[in-house]
This record gives sequence, C-alpha cells and structure tokens, in this order.
Amino acid sequence: MNDKEIEELIQAEVRRQREGLEMIPSENHTSKDVLAALGSRLTDKYSEGYPGMRYYGGCEIVDKVENLARDRAKALFGVSHVNVQPYSGSPANMAVYFALADPGDTVMGLELFYGGHMTHGLKVNFSGKWFNSVQYRTGRDGYLDYDGMAELVKEHKPKLIFVGATAYPRIIDWQRLREIADLCGAFLVADISHIAGLVVAGAHPSPVGIADVVTTTTHKTLRGPRGAIIMCNGNPSNPLKKADRTRENLPTLIDRAIIPGLQGGPHNHQTAAIAVALREASTPEFKEYGHQIVRNARHLADRLMERGYDLVTSGTDNHLLLIDLTNKNMRGADAEKALGLAGITVNKNTVPFDTRPPFDPSGIRLGTPALTTRGMKETEMDQIADWIDKAISAHGSDAKLTEIRGAVKEFVKAFPLPGEDN
Ligand SMILES: Cc1ncc(COP(=O)(O)O)c(C=O)c1O
Repeated sequence: MNDKEIEELIQAEVRRQREGLEMIPSENHTSKDVLAALGSRLTDKYSEGYPGMRYYGGCEIVDKVENLARDRAKALFGVSHVNVQPYSGSPANMAVYFALADPGDTVMGLELFYGGHMTHGLKVNFSGKWFNSVQYRTGRDGYLDYDGMAELVKEHKPKLIFVGATAYPRIIDWQRLREIADLCGAFLVADISHIAGLVVAGAHPSPVGIADVVTTTTHKTLRGPRGAIIMCNGNPSNPLKKADRTRENLPTLIDRAIIPGLQGGPHNHQTAAIAVALREASTPEFKEYGHQIVRNARHLADRLMERGYDLVTSGTDNHLLLIDLTNKNMRGADAEKALGLAGITVNKNTVPFDTRPPFDPSGIRLGTPALTTRGMKETEMDQIADWIDKAISAHGSDAKLTEIRGAVKEFVKAFPLPGEDN
C-alpha cells in the first residue's frame, strides 16, 4: 500500500487484535475469504435497484452476486424473502419502521438501559423522535418481563414491536412474544443481530415463521462483514408497485423501504462478503462453533460466579455475560480500563435498574464469539476467568496489569486469527 500512514494503522490494529483477548460480544474475527470479497473491485460498481431491475447498466455480474447472497440467506434461515442491501443494522431497522409504520405511530421496544438497542425506540434516536415510542424493560431478575409487556401492549396498542437486544444473556421466547403482539394485531419484528450465528447453529430458537420480520447484522456471531439483512415471508416482492400494509405484502414493503425509501446504491463488495459468510455459516463446523460459543460463555459465567461476581440473571444461555460490579465496589468504566490494560477488551454497560448514570454504569458486558473463533474452549475459559478476576482486583496497579498483558500475549500465540499461522 502506498499510503504508509493508513497501512501502519491497519497493521497496528491487526496486532492489537492478535495480541489481546477480544471479548466485546458484538465483535468477531472474519475469515480471509470474507476480507477478500470486501477488498474487491465490486466496491466500484453502482447498481441502484434490485437484480433484474436496476437503474444502471453493467449490472449483470453484481446481479448474480446479490442473488447468491439472497439464496444463501433464504436457505440458511428458512425464509422466502431476503433483502441483503441494508448498509448496517441501524438502517435495516430504520427501513422496517418505514415499511410498517408512519411517523407519529406508536411503536414498542426494549429500553436501551435494560439491554435494548438505540433503534428500538430510544428518545434521542430517530425511532424515538419520529414515532411515539413506548419502552418496555426487564424485570428486577434481569429476564424480559413478558407479563409487563402484555399489559403495555393492551394499553398502548403499538403498530409494531421490536424485540432483540444488545445486552441480554437469556433465550428469547418468540412464541410468547407472538401472542403478546397478537393482543393488538401489532407487527412483531425480531432483531437477532447479536444471536444470528447461534440461531443458524441451532443454539438459540429461531424467530423465523413466528415474527413477521427478522433483521440481523451480519458482523456479530454470524461472523460476516459489517452489514445487515432483513427477512420475511409473503408474496413475491414487486418493488415497482406501492403495497398496502398487510403480512402478504411484507416483501414488497421491505424492499421499497430500502430503495427508494432510504438508501441509494447497494455496497456490492459487502453483499459479496455477506454471501461468503453465509456459505461459511451453513457448514457443520459453524454449527459446532455456535454451540461452542454458548458452552464457553456458560463456563466463563460459572468460573466468575465462583469468584463472587454478580451476573445479571445469574448466568447465561447465549454468547454474553452482563456483570454487575456493585458488590466489587467498582465502576464499569474502571473495570473496562483495567481489563484493557491487561489485554482483555470488554465494554462498560448498564445493568437493569442501574443506580449509576448510563455514561458511568455499574456493569461490564463481555462475550465469547471472537475467542471461540480463535479456537478457545472451556480450558481456556478457566484461564481467562482467572485473568479477568486478577485484573479487576489489580485495578490501579499498572505493574500487575502489564504483567497480565504479557501473559495474555504469550497465551494467544496458540490461537491465531483466522487465516494466520501460529
Ligand atoms: C440488536 C442490535 N440491533 C441493531 C444494531 C445496529 O447495528 P449497526 O451498529 O450495524 O448499525 C446493533 C448493534 O450493536 C444491535 O446490537
């Protein structure tokens, strides 16, 4: 690369990833094939529209790329319609609001500070500004409060209900949510961004066929490039025609919400990389990967609870742990910093009913998807739990944290990033 400044920064970031333990639960390490597709000349091509109906010439090859991505997603998730064009998770969700509601309509989602995402109705997000957003919460026990949701639905009669989370460690009961949405005839939207990889592996129940629309980012447990897809069932899409807001018309409503509703030209390099990731996710190895993520998270949770850590819901069913550090007399930000100095990347996070402010919360959120990609298993989780505990206890002692960092750096040599040799 001629641009040495950027090249050095890329290399520095690769080193940071290689030499540390990446435990942010929404991150992962992609394969060389995914990176190759992302770095391809497909990025040069404009192709507004959909395969077979584009506003540009020269689209015959990118049409094939997009059709492959769609077909692979359909087969993997078992749906009849997929839109692979959303630039990322937030615009995917925005398109769903545009498809199913009008500004001012009532919508419902899980409050950010209880594990939801900004696009699920946070007041300062478009979803809370343009729509009448009613937010539900978890109960005191940290589990989704399904009965409380049902009451809210009866009272507010939302047009659509978003369900999905960025910081929720338990299985989501889609069937129960369907019944709740049916109390007022609301569209049910499942945002499985965090758990998509677990869903395709069979390590978490799938909302497909239960929720009306399913959105997911492609870059978390699904282990693809940054991007998103939207899935639904219904009549074949006709993006050239206006459609009424019925379940049969969902494919058309979604496609029209993406373009012309929200986006311009699709990112063809990203679509190709999504197709590559979907193929990888359809292998038996990926199935095993998804289950190992959960085994690792459960093992780590047990080891940390043995050391007195207070886990929200006292454990995990999925890829992440949410730890309330109040009993350790520590702020989430201090733990994040100490762990960072020790080579372990996590993020501070609110816990349900947090007594501290959102920008300085009581907890940390950590997960196992990236570690599992590197081949780590339960034995390694024993060691990592020990380092997490030691680093949090050593908060403020740079010498001790640097010592752990050195040990981490040695340890990860046996677990190369995808496509690298050890
Ligand atoms: C549940 C959920 N939905 C949507 C998003 C948004 O994705 P993006 O960051 O790609 O816009 C995220 C990202 O963290 C998420 O966790």
